[in-house]
Amino acid sequence: MKFKIAQLAGDGIGPEVTSQAVMVIQQIGKLHGHTFEIETGLIGGIAIDQRGSALPPETLKLAKASDAVLLGAVGDPKFDDPKIKERPENGLLAIRKNLKLFANLRPVKVYDELADGAMLKAEVIKGADFVFVRELTSGLYFGKPKKRWETSTGRKAVDSMYYTEQEIERIVRVGFELARLRRKKLTSVDKANVLESSRLWRQVTAEVSKDFPDVTLDHLLVDTCAMSLIRAPRDFDVVVTENTFGDILTDEASMLAGSMGMLPSASLDGIPAKGERTFGLFEPIHGSAPTIAGKDIANPIATILSLAMLLRYSLALEKEAAAVEQAVSDVLKAGYRTCDIIGITANTKQVGTQQMGTLIVKALKG
Ligand code: IPM
Ligand code: MG
Repeated sequence: MKFKIAQLAGDGIGPEVTSQAVMVIQQIGKLHGHTFEIETGLIGGIAIDQRGSALPPETLKLAKASDAVLLGAVGDPKFDDPKIKERPENGLLAIRKNLKLFANLRPVKVYDELADGAMLKAEVIKGADFVFVRELTSGLYFGKPKKRWETSTGRKAVDSMYYTEQEIERIVRVGFELARLRRKKLTSVDKANVLESSRLWRQVTAEVSKDFPDVTLDHLLVDTCAMSLIRAPRDFDVVVTENTFGDILTDEASMLAGSMGMLPSASLDGIPAKGERTFGLFEPIHGSAPTIAGKDIANPIATILSLAMLLRYSLALEKEAAAVEQAVSDVLKAGYRTCDIIGITANTKQVGTQQMGTLIVKALKG
């Protein structure tokens, strides 16, 4: 089959990690007889520099004309000045919103071979395997009013945690559907003891649960969830939550997997039925990491695992997706590590970004 993929590398380590994933997909093409046409586009700081906008119209056009988007990362400290209006992050938020990709899946899997060298106790984290379903196009990130102004008593600023029941219902349904395909346990995370939007979230979630009697639903306060992720990560199966809570909790959860460099994500408009495909945007959960950019030390695994999700959800190539995941697992088993996951175990070999990519390409089986 022939597919068109948009590659939006972005800033910092984005170009390094996406180019490794592109090597992987080209090898998948050779081994499995597919043609992947890769077209590049600008997003983030580099797009502001070259086109004056963090999401130029031609990038959005390219995304819409593609079967899926593979994105690296956006962000550059040179845009940190609060007076600057156009920030690299605006490009990312705008593409998610414009493409209506409200469901952000962030799987957290603790590889046995990384658990032993992790900062957290291996006996607590070993075997943890769950998925965050982060709401991506509403909540605190997008709610209005959102502004900053001057008053006679000083500067003020406001962001709004805003949700409609329809927005809550559609994301919670994704959580339930995913749980149904897994261990049938859904944890909905909110702050219902304080926030009105969370009380609505909890109520709508309870209503939707009536359509999924086979799935066990728990409600957890976000602070308790932050604690439980470290205390008993194996208790989780699928976790559904608001945009900002999901952003924060997934960075925390990445430390179970060893590093931010290990967690992939898929942004979709719903879970496709078996054998069907849906357009999506696929990106590692980490940022542009400007301090390590260009040094060939970034971990490309989060992006390569995002590519596996792209193959699965947007191209319905399950066998090929599983082959990529297996290759990553085999390379980790063989002891190869980038510096972020080197750990303290014996028999590990430190490699750079390109070497890790090449090893994964070589480990791919037809
Ligand atoms: C993420 C990132 C983004 C977010 C930033 C770069 C805007 O942290 O994807 O988790 O907050 O969504
Ligand atoms: Mg984040």
